[in-house]
Amino acid sequence: MCGIVGIVGVTNTVPRMMEALHRLEYRGYDSAGVATLHDGDLHRCRAVGKIAALDSKLVERPVKGDIGIGHTRWATHGEAVEVNAHPHMTDKLAVVHNGIIENFASLKKELIDKGHQFEGETDTEVVARLITDYLTSGIDAKNAIFKTLKRIEGAFALAILVNDNNNTIYAARRGSPLVIGLGQTENYLGSDAIALASLSNKLIYLEEGDWAQISRDSVSVFDMTGEEVARPITYSQVSNTFADKGNYRHFMQKEIFEQPFILAQTIGKYFDQNACKITLPVEGFDFSEVSKITIIACGTSYYAAQVAKFWLEKMARIPVEVDIASEFRYRDPVYMDGGLAVFISQSGETADTLAALKHAKSAGQTILSILNAEESSMSRESDMVFPIYAGPEIGVASTKAFTCQLVVLAALAIEVAYVRGELDDNGVKTVIDNLEEVPRLISDILNNHKDIEKIAHYIAKARDILFVGRGTHSAIAMEGALKLKEISYIHAEGYAAGELKHGPIALIDENVPVIGLAPNDDLFDKTVSNLQEIMARQGKVIIISDREADAVVGGSEKLLSFKMPKACALVSPILYAVPVQLLAYYAAVEKGTDADQPRNLAKSVTVE
Ligand code: AGP
Repeated sequence: MCGIVGIVGVTNTVPRMMEALHRLEYRGYDSAGVATLHDGDLHRCRAVGKIAALDSKLVERPVKGDIGIGHTRWATHGEAVEVNAHPHMTDKLAVVHNGIIENFASLKKELIDKGHQFEGETDTEVVARLITDYLTSGIDAKNAIFKTLKRIEGAFALAILVNDNNNTIYAARRGSPLVIGLGQTENYLGSDAIALASLSNKLIYLEEGDWAQISRDSVSVFDMTGEEVARPITYSQVSNTFADKGNYRHFMQKEIFEQPFILAQTIGKYFDQNACKITLPVEGFDFSEVSKITIIACGTSYYAAQVAKFWLEKMARIPVEVDIASEFRYRDPVYMDGGLAVFISQSGETADTLAALKHAKSAGQTILSILNAEESSMSRESDMVFPIYAGPEIGVASTKAFTCQLVVLAALAIEVAYVRGELDDNGVKTVIDNLEEVPRLISDILNNHKDIEKIAHYIAKARDILFVGRGTHSAIAMEGALKLKEISYIHAEGYAAGELKHGPIALIDENVPVIGLAPNDDLFDKTVSNLQEIMARQGKVIIISDREADAVVGGSEKLLSFKMPKACALVSPILYAVPVQLLAYYAAVEKGTDADQPRNLAKSVTVE
């Protein structure tokens, strides 16, 4: 989603802003631009498409300046065309923005009535024109921005470069993240620590409602009342080097194939096999006192939550509610005293999940976040953070973060079960022994990737595909469908297998492949019955199971199948996540889509 950079420097900022914009590419975007102040004039360059297009344009028409702001845009208001790309400029300033100005329509009307002319369709342009309006009436830049911030509504991060000889960038944060980087003779601004990794590791995270004045040698932060405030300096651990694909064709492929190693690390952090103990990263919180667990997340992280609900209820016998973050706070949820609210997010910045977290926090729930990005808005708002240690995930489609989330959720479920007396020392030892096998079992699956490639080759021709499973594997079916549709653009849906006959079975014919996740567990016979129902209607079933395919569906020449290793019920959904990731990846390769940066999607979804 939109990314912001800013440099108040002593040498030309453009090459460094471009480097920072490349670092923000992983967030997803559809246009990019930079604006600088040079010799008393504002200069700008914008391009639609990849940052490489902006690089080329800057070669043809160079822009330079010691002070500048840059942006990657993920379109919300107005198409991805150059006139809507940021920075937006007037004769007095340039603005870049991440988020949504919700009252832009009424402000735009007011400004048009006053004679302002708008070039594009973005909500951002009202910010540029409103500040310009105040500046034109004689108000200085700092007060013009403060007045503007009081009038705009919504969730946003802004960087504003005013042409007033003060060599200052102004920044504001409401909802969307923004961080200031401190340098020796320069200062910086970025959407996250990754953007600033090659510029500074000495960071000030703006808090909700903060705005700031950043010059070469000073940084002043104000709260929403206009009072100057001191915010702590933190030191980022984010690496300066670009993540690289190694010998893999795509980051997604690399991230799928590195799961055995990554998961071994995460398992090592949360489970002590020798001592047969769970080693949680927090002390002093008594999980036995928790009355109810509410788990909130979006997308893939939400499917991890669904798996965790099965585990927690079955192993720990505690009530668990799971919801998608975009719905949660709007349905007026009922909290219980002593409730634990768990938020799962790879990025730690997802706007809906962050808003839900704040809702639960204000209702007095204890907040536990399960995050990959430890330096994130969610980590700063949480009472406890369980890192998943997946390392940078660059592919927009989440893969290794999902399986790492499952491992951490398994640790939570086992701990809660233990402290509630539902699992004894022997039980803990058994589950830890089983989890320790996960890296080896996933290696076995990955070694058979050629079999999945063959299936992907077949399904890549389909227009619609269904994934079905039962229990924890119904969540994996939904995750498989999400993965396939987001990177191959094949329409796919995931269902609890038993639900099919309540509607979706009407879709079944010889052109609709159905991927059946059928582990040999206590629901195996039920799943097989559902797959038989599909085959009876000419549906093409593809079996993913640890049983021989013949045993599942009685044999069929046309049947495709993938053989899984045997595993216990706790470990099984972690393993079944891998073939559905591979299926999506190889189907995308077969179709020639961009597996790492699929159309319309952003890695970090910072608007509601
Ligand atoms: C996963 O493949 C998706 N790109 C998406 O559903 C993602 O999981 C969702 O946006 C939540 O993101 P988060 O984990 O960073 O909060």
